[in-house]
Amino acid sequence: MRRFTRMAGNVTATVLLMSGLAALGPAAPPAAGANPPRIDRDVFGTMPDGTRVDRFTLSNGNGMRIRVLTYGGIIQTIEVPDRRGRTGNVALGFNNLTDYIERSPYFGCITGRYANRIANGRFTLDNVTYQLAQNNGVNHLHGGNVGFDKRIWTTTEFRERDTVGLRMTYVSPAGEENYPGTLTTTVTYRLTRDNEIRMDYRATTDAATIVNLTNHTYFNLAGEGSGTIEDHKLTVNASRYTPVDTTLIPTGTLDPVAGTPMDFRRSTAIGERIRNNFEQLVIGQGYDHNYVLDRRDNTFRQLEQAATVVDPESGRVLSIRTTEPGIQFYSGNFLDGTLVGTSGRVYRQTDGFALETQHFPDSPNKPQFPTTVLRPNQTYQTTTIYQFSTTR
Ligand code: BGC
Repeated sequence: MRRFTRMAGNVTATVLLMSGLAALGPAAPPAAGANPPRIDRDVFGTMPDGTRVDRFTLSNGNGMRIRVLTYGGIIQTIEVPDRRGRTGNVALGFNNLTDYIERSPYFGCITGRYANRIANGRFTLDNVTYQLAQNNGVNHLHGGNVGFDKRIWTTTEFRERDTVGLRMTYVSPAGEENYPGTLTTTVTYRLTRDNEIRMDYRATTDAATIVNLTNHTYFNLAGEGSGTIEDHKLTVNASRYTPVDTTLIPTGTLDPVAGTPMDFRRSTAIGERIRNNFEQLVIGQGYDHNYVLDRRDNTFRQLEQAATVVDPESGRVLSIRTTEPGIQFYSGNFLDGTLVGTSGRVYRQTDGFALETQHFPDSPNKPQFPTTVLRPNQTYQTTTIYQFSTTR
């Protein structure tokens, strides 16, 4: 059975804000198997040009619920139980559309066409040089001035046995943000009974182009707005990473993590070495690095374990599998106390972390990195799964 609700289109922003807040209160998790999964829909807000932004609420009937906006494909909230069954929202975000439009540091969004940085916003493909927006110092970041995070995605909901999902499509015209080729992208989010958010990315083009898509959720497993994530223990399945220059562009080498504070092969608290006087941590003001995953499958088709995060306090565990070659570990270094989050609390440095599965930053200028070129006869296809559980 699928229940489907839609709020009236003319609801005022105030009412939307209140309904957003009210819906975020603590909820007792249902007994396993007690509830069927469901999808609900309401209006989250209106764009300056009048376009309506919808919000989908996906519940898996097993204690987990996520909210997704048609604006940017943003995952607004992720509610999961802790070890005592108490539900909390572990995704950083806002409770209103205006904040997402005006000041979001990419909270929860689909990031594209090119996630992370391209040096000087410039690359050459088939002997043609393209100049993209330099929207991060001299570099190009997360798709430019109006990337995929700021687009409205055509979204349809579906249900497959125990799983509920959203299929989101965006057609980026040739020349948008100066990228070549019309890129048709479909991102599918599924919420499974096993407390997984599965993300399938697919893209095709009508002319050679570059593409690198990810999701940019910031997590705090103790609950959004509850303070620093420095006590969270992180494991990353990577013995190498891509060190960066002072503008956060990879130097081009794959350096060993061994013997450095970059080494998370064994579960280590994020804050344990974050203030070490290690050049890469000084440059990034913390961790802001692409890890080269230790993969068995280097055709990037198989899902393999990438990272695990444990919050010892709440017992919540996040486990990430991906087909991608890399993962960006970002320790929320640029959160500076100026943003007020979903539950009304201020976000400070290290109040959230992101683990963005991806191809490596600046690959279009680094022929030694796995390619990010997509041609008309090819299909871009990647999968990432974020799974939540608890530990004692
Ligand atoms: C980048 C950071 C950036 C953050 C928010 C991350 O993917 O690596 O440098 O500050 O996104 O834009």
